[in-house]
Amino acid sequence: MNQVPHHIAVVMDGNGRWAAKRFLPRVAGHKQGVVSLRRCVKACAQRGVGVLTVFAFSSENWNRPVEEVSGLMSLFAVAMAREVPKLHADGVQLHFVGDRLGLSEKLVTGIESAERATASNSRLILNICFNYGGRWDIVQAAKQLAEQGKPVTEANLGAAMAMAHVADPDLVIRTGAEQRISNFLLWQAAYSELYFSDRLWPEFDEAELDLAIESYGKRQRRFGKTSDQLLPKTVSTVVS
Ligand code: IPE
Ligand code: IPE
Ligand code: MG
Repeated sequence: MNQVPHHIAVVMDGNGRWAAKRFLPRVAGHKQGVVSLRRCVKACAQRGVGVLTVFAFSSENWNRPVEEVSGLMSLFAVAMAREVPKLHADGVQLHFVGDRLGLSEKLVTGIESAERATASNSRLILNICFNYGGRWDIVQAAKQLAEQGKPVTEANLGAAMAMAHVADPDLVIRTGAEQRISNFLLWQAAYSELYFSDRLWPEFDEAELDLAIESYGKRQRRFGKTSDQLLPKTVSTVVS
């Protein structure tokens, strides 16, 4: 039987290339990316995944051409208005993870109201990493500890991180045929299993998700131990 990861995190990469292959503007790829995200959320809920975390806009994505950045910001606002009521109806609890200082007031208001509206849902937790970077997260957590005069320990830093409301991801998937982390979940992915898909994000469907879950099910997570230590304990039948 396939073991379903409790927390899946996804670097949704390849929207631009999906659009370029069709001679469409890059933003059309991002639009299709929203459709793919909707499909992925549904599929995860159906498979019993508890937490889905997606990388939607990185701290470094501000360096893209202005038209693309403004296209992504408007798409985010439009997608929120259209999708949040449906996500709410589907029992999804929404969290937005990232630096809100860099976002427009309107976006922040939308984010806050979406989080409030869905706070008591429990079918699936969806974390949307927007204006997020793993380094930003570590720095903001360290600043909190410094301000509160707390000692820097793994437990204190972990509790101050932006994803402290969920367990660390079990499986990190990256689509788009690139094999890198790109500043995603640097702290939280310490022991995540990694899965790289050659599919571009808009093409990532249920069957691809199942392949990733199947691959996860075959892994042995050792957390520093040896394989032997992880074998199920058998009752000793040695007779002296
Ligand atoms: C990922 O797709 C979405 C964002 C970074 C917002 P890309 O836009 O990076 O697509 P490619 O990698 O250029 O194909
Ligand atoms: C990572 O994709 C960020 C998101 C998916 C939001 P990028 O396309 O920005 O990553 P790089 O620049 O290729 O490493
Ligand atoms: Mg990319």
